[in-house]
Amino acid sequence: MRLLPRTLDVPTSPIADAHRWVTERSGGPPLLDLSQAAPAYPTAPVIAEHIARVAADGDGGRYAPPPGLPVLLDAFSDELTRSYGPDGTVSISDEQILPTGGCNQAFCTAVSTIAEPGSEVIVPVPYYFNHDMWLKLDGIVPRYLHQLDVDQAEQLVNEQTRALVLVTPGNPSGATMEPELIHQFYLLCRRHDLALIIDETYRNFRTVTDPPHRLFAEPDWDDTVISLHSFSKDLAIPGYRVGAIVSSEAFKVEVLKFVDCVQICAPRIGQEATAIGLNQARDWRQEQVDRINLALDHFTQVMARQPGAFSLASAGAYFGWVRHPFTIDGPFEPLPTDEVIRRLVLDHGIVAIPGTAFTPSDEGWIRFSYANLEPAEIDEFAQRLDRMGSKS
Ligand SMILES: Cc1ncc(COP(=O)(O)O)c(C=O)c1O
Repeated sequence: MRLLPRTLDVPTSPIADAHRWVTERSGGPPLLDLSQAAPAYPTAPVIAEHIARVAADGDGGRYAPPPGLPVLLDAFSDELTRSYGPDGTVSISDEQILPTGGCNQAFCTAVSTIAEPGSEVIVPVPYYFNHDMWLKLDGIVPRYLHQLDVDQAEQLVNEQTRALVLVTPGNPSGATMEPELIHQFYLLCRRHDLALIIDETYRNFRTVTDPPHRLFAEPDWDDTVISLHSFSKDLAIPGYRVGAIVSSEAFKVEVLKFVDCVQICAPRIGQEATAIGLNQARDWRQEQVDRINLALDHFTQVMARQPGAFSLASAGAYFGWVRHPFTIDGPFEPLPTDEVIRRLVLDHGIVAIPGTAFTPSDEGWIRFSYANLEPAEIDEFAQRLDRMGSKS
């Protein structure tokens, strides 16, 4: 059989790659895992108890209606309407929401509905690696935007352009975009009849509670906006595979053709878990966010003194986006980032994702996920960076 060259050209997922050095460790200090962005804690008790009941129920294992379980659609449309329009200016309907098998499936099916091989999609750098992977697997050309600047983005638009992607808060940057800047990108997309795909996986992990943007208050927002959501982190159910697309009713009908072929419906059990979580686990969700934001404060504080000459560029959600010191402009002999990662794992017991998973070339970045670390582990992490710097 002949495999597609474009598939062979796409590198494998960086999470597994980062762990390949871990298997070569023998001894050393306990591993500090800053590679994963998945919650390390169990889901809310109210969700676990509900799922046990659903699993025992006669209907628990059946397909869900492909457009989504009504109880989930109602819960999520309410939540979106409230949190994006506390002043009553937003109204999201159940028909504008399509539950998907996670936010990754939401992205892939949405992109495949609007772009074909040879189409172009504008992607700010650093990007979420699965977005870049999917575009390439589908033969779509990612056009990299090296600064979050609307004029620069406009220069990349041509006949082939179909969409512009934003991720806020960002993975890997952790940075939250200002609503005004998001709005400028929306206007750009509207001017050129492009889709604005906005991945809001980490929306609830922001440090502010204001609406993330004001797009849903625009009269014809759903002609342009495809807003993507994930419940993996928010409800600590990554294995339940639930996310959502929020766009127009007509778009939902078209994406459903893809979902029907690849998964038929988002998992019933996951939709049940999400609905009960949105309706009954609000306090629990807030507790997780508060705890992770305390970790953010601590991480930001320890990184402020640039341990080992590692320098924090931005942080938030789950991530710190850090420039390592082994670059041409750094204080030590330059090294490829993969080699820095190898040394971090083998010599210092720190596992993290090389920035090369999120940028088209090696620019000396590393993504550290601090969200699952205790404060004492964050201190220990910084001391190990110090040691790496002092030995170089
Ligand atoms: C920006 C972003 N989008 C999507 C996903 C995938 O989410 P899901 O588990 O809902 O597919 C992730 C997970 O890390 C992510 O960081």
